[in-house]
Amino acid sequence: MAIRTILHYPDPRLRERGKKVAELTAELRRLIDDMAETMYAAPGVGLAATQIGEMWQLFVVDCAAEGEASDLRVFINPEILSTEGVATLDEGCLSFPGAREEIERAAKVRVKAQDRDGRWFELEAEGLLATAIQHEYDHLHGVLMIDRLGPLKKRLLHRKMLKRCDASASAPG
Ligand code: NI
Repeated sequence: MAIRTILHYPDPRLRERGKKVAELTAELRRLIDDMAETMYAAPGVGLAATQIGEMWQLFVVDCAAEGEASDLRVFINPEILSTEGVATLDEGCLSFPGAREEIERAAKVRVKAQDRDGRWFELEAEGLLATAIQHEYDHLHGVLMIDRLGPLKKRLLHRKMLKRCDASASAPG
């Protein structure tokens, strides 16, 4: 397993869509392991393949609270079947280091996906898991949390991220 580099906004690769996974090869299984390791190391509650420049319909989430046993879930070729209600949660994103934004999403989602063995499953989620699923699902379609903000917050976050890029570009080493 290996920790992979997470792309940061405004990297244009974050705007690409993941391709459907046709076959779960050994290489893809290694990618899933790398994604889990990268997510835990960050640490984060979710990571999409497109965030590390691997353009597949694939994400991992683990919404277990601190001190709870891990609850790693793998979603391959996910489809959101239905949504219900509205919820606003404070969200972060590993591609927007340091940013926290309140984002309105569906309160409940019903999702269909394949697990790491390729078996299809359906899941109804609410709370943090529902938010994480929608956030990561967006990534697979090139949609980022900044797109879900109003015009003013969007501009502020964009500027903040550009400043951060400049700062890391001019940092020694
Ligand atoms: Ni994200």
